[in-house]
Amino acid sequence: MELFIDTGAVSEVEEIAAWGVLSGATTNPSLLAKEDGEPGDIIRKIANLVNGPTSAEVVSPDAEGMIAEGQALRKLHEHVTVKVPFGPEGLKATRALTDDGAMVNMTLVFSPNQALLAASAGATFVSCFMGRLDDISVDSAKVLEEICDVLRARDLDSKVLAASIRHPEHMVVAASLGCDIATVPAKVFHQMLNHPLTTEGAAKFEEDWKSRPEFGEWLGGLVAADKG
Ligand code: G3P
Repeated sequence: MELFIDTGAVSEVEEIAAWGVLSGATTNPSLLAKEDGEPGDIIRKIANLVNGPTSAEVVSPDAEGMIAEGQALRKLHEHVTVKVPFGPEGLKATRALTDDGAMVNMTLVFSPNQALLAASAGATFVSCFMGRLDDISVDSAKVLEEICDVLRARDLDSKVLAASIRHPEHMVVAASLGCDIATVPAKVFHQMLNHPLTTEGAAKFEEDWKSRPEFGEWLGGLVAADKG
């Protein structure tokens, strides 16, 4: 499963991209609205940092407007993926944009039937929301499993993108179900990273190594010799 970052904050992308784990990014109007600066500059900076598909969302209510916005947004950067909200107008726009060679991420997908329609309209990525389903007491793992089963049965090219990720357990579920991508908030990346036994183990290694000062001299000498 590839990892995208779900944010409009360039600083968060800079931090997590430095870990060497990112394959792309997703933004949306709500995430961008939290940031200062022009959306185009933000999207271009994020696309350069992740060097992979970077979703920028259209906001028009009708297909004609979505297509025009999508065509303009994709010119921001070669990696820009046009993000289109699910619905009849979104399906029309997705078909037109993908037929014109654009990458499209259909978002706000909450059921296997919606996912099937999105994939049938040619969506490159189908963003299946987990957290917002859990928020209304719907089992997101079950829905995501149904979506994965339905799309696999159709042998469609669309990639299942797990979205609305709220905690590391969503990541385990998405990966276990074979989702192609998960788009992850910076907060969850940090939750994925941390474990008390890792922290404890690193401290013990440092303490034991320091108990033999000659080892430190040996390693320092090895590094110096290697640098020549
Ligand atoms: O960006 C799409 C999706 O990941 C946002 O989900 O529920 O955190 O707003 P949410």
